Amino acid sequence: MRAIVVHELGGPEVLKAEDWPEPKAGEGQLVIRTQAIGVSYAETQLRTGIYPLPVPLPTVFGAEAAGVVTEVGAGVDEALLGATIACVTGGVGSYAEYAVVPASLICPVPEGVSPVDAVAAAAPGAIALGLLHRAGLKGGETVLVEAGASSIGTYLLRHAKEFGAERVIATAGAPAKRERARQMGADEVIDHREPGWPGELPDVDVVFESVGGASAKPVLDHLTPGSGRMLCYGSLSGEPAAVGAADLLARGVTVIGCGGPAWGAEVFGVHYPEMLARVADGRSRAYVDDTLPLESAAEAHRRLESRTALGRIILTP
Ligand SMILES: NC(=O)c1ccc[n+]([C@@H]2O[C@H](COP(=O)([O-])OP(=O)(O)OC[C@H]3O[C@@H](n4cnc5c(N)ncnc54)[C@H](OP(=O)(O)O)[C@@H]3O)[C@@H](O)[C@H]2O)c1
Repeated sequence: MRAIVVHELGGPEVLKAEDWPEPKAGEGQLVIRTQAIGVSYAETQLRTGIYPLPVPLPTVFGAEAAGVVTEVGAGVDEALLGATIACVTGGVGSYAEYAVVPASLICPVPEGVSPVDAVAAAAPGAIALGLLHRAGLKGGETVLVEAGASSIGTYLLRHAKEFGAERVIATAGAPAKRERARQMGADEVIDHREPGWPGELPDVDVVFESVGGASAKPVLDHLTPGSGRMLCYGSLSGEPAAVGAADLLARGVTVIGCGGPAWGAEVFGVHYPEMLARVADGRSRAYVDDTLPLESAAEAHRRLESRTALGRIILTP
């Protein structure tokens, strides 16, 4: 089969299209013929070594896909053969014509939803729904969505008021991104390329923190004393949020870490199906910047790193 294989960490050029053996389904696994493959910013950070790869090199890259089940391993329901599913691999292996997936990490694609739309919406939408549930918004609260035109930020903005937010502030970079954030429901948008931008913030009840690094502390300094919550779920800057216990103590605010196995199980088990159901009945939708052939995985990573994508980039084999 054709696959995108990484032999060494580095720039986008390390994503090489090659022939690679087709995977076989082991116990508790199944194989899909991929129809749509998700590419994410976190994968660009895995590729450069900012985050550790979960397997040794060389490996087929990629963690998200949708496709048709072609083989089931021992202990997996044979009725799944021929079904169209969305899935995460739990590690690597989705940038390929066939991918092996744990049977616990699959979700049926509802009637009427294309594989491209399923992949585009499922992961970022599910993460956003998980964050909105976790935030426990009370009526009348103000929220800040950092990187509001990112894949996850888009869904946070789209659904924040439905979950009870009254005033929604977003940050974004280029003018097209700021416009996207407004279209998605932001009442105000701050250009996060301006140094010192957190100084423009009013008191904020909930922050969805995805950038990390040095900007987290000045943002935390605008959390409502006593009740403010900062939900940390990403490190787009490549650094974790630089906030310490003394900062929390000073304001009496809470930082909630939204990552790790229990979080992943909740996002996948509860919010993946919830998100796909929303796409199927029109309560949400997919945002696709572009679909590219599998062989263009390096180009997909370049586009994400150039920060020009408005919506997801999806590979099709
Ligand atoms: N906790 C979880 O469950 C979970 C799961 C998946 C991903 N994540 C994390 O969530 C974050 C967002 O992921 P995503 O897939 O939504 O991202 P994405 O769609 O690739 O969007 C990234 C956008 O963020 C903005 N940005 C702001 N500061 C940035 C910086 N320092 N470097 C690069 N981009 C920056 C850029 O837009 P502008 O042009 O507006 O600056 C960029 O286009 C990532 O850190 C990712 O690792 C968390």
